[in-house]
Amino acid sequence: MRNIAEIKLPHNLQMAYTSKFCYQHQCQYMLINNKELCTVCETEKLTQQLEREVANELIARQTLAKYNMLYKQSILQDETLLDAGFKNYIVTDHEETANKERALNALKQFRKGEVFNIWFTGNTGVGKSHLAMALLRSLNEFDRHVTCLFADVDEMLRRIRDSFQNRENKFTEKYVTDLLTSVDYLVLDDLGAETGDIDTEKRASDYTSRILRGIINARQNKSTIITTNINRTKLEAMYDRKLVSRMMKNTYLIHFAETKDKRIRNIEF
Ligand SMILES: Nc1ncnc2c1ncn2[C@@H]1O[C@H](COP(=O)(O)OP(=O)(O)OP(=O)(O)O)[C@@H](O)[C@H]1O
Ligand SMILES: [Mg+2]
Ligand SMILES: [Zn+2]
Repeated sequence: MRNIAEIKLPHNLQMAYTSKFCYQHQCQYMLINNKELCTVCETEKLTQQLEREVANELIARQTLAKYNMLYKQSILQDETLLDAGFKNYIVTDHEETANKERALNALKQFRKGEVFNIWFTGNTGVGKSHLAMALLRSLNEFDRHVTCLFADVDEMLRRIRDSFQNRENKFTEKYVTDLLTSVDYLVLDDLGAETGDIDTEKRASDYTSRILRGIINARQNKSTIITTNINRTKLEAMYDRKLVSRMMKNTYLIHFAETKDKRIRNIEF
């Protein structure tokens, strides 16, 4: 960015007053290097140009910060997920083909400005988080002014809990809830995994419910994408019904029933 103080006049500058007068600034024109000009007019022009340059630079930086948010501020356990996209989502069967289509159709609707929630449900390792990330990355590429964030629910809660003891940790409850509330598109990844073993029907702690409720309530007019292994009945047993009902408002469901766990596809024993 240029600064007006950094602009230096050349050493061999030839200057002389001329007979022309600037009525706006009540001063005589000067002949500077064979150009006749009012020095005050010129300074004003230069200042405006610099202000425009500064403003454009700020907008460019803001836009870049919005674009980078997904990559720099997402709360992940597994950073390799940041590489998940539609291009490297390989379809091998009918269900994967259909679910990729459904996700691409949702992307189209988001791009038109529609607001709704997506639920990716089904067993472990079937590509729920992969497709959720693919959606965010496509939204992020399509419009550099939208903000997208991917948050692993368990990791998010762990970081907030850690901030209770560790003052250096910026992930305070307020920081995290403000961050997750502010973004245009949010993925809440692996909902329900934070309460431990999914078969024990444990109730989520008041603390977990309170944080999720805060985020969900504040995002009523924004789109949220949720992935989970857990069915609705179990979710209602874990969190209160009102919270689950809010999360399921205006839901677009993408369910995996037959797809096999991709994490263990190459291992046979
Ligand atoms: N169709 C696919 N093509 C390419 N890679 C895939 C596909 N489905 C899943 N994967 C990869 O397999 C791994 C597991 O997928 P993913 O993390 O999306 O599973 P998940 O359904 O979210 O599982 P969990 O419920 O355990 O979180 C990831 O590395 C993902 O990139
Ligand atoms: Mg997952
Ligand atoms: Zn002038």
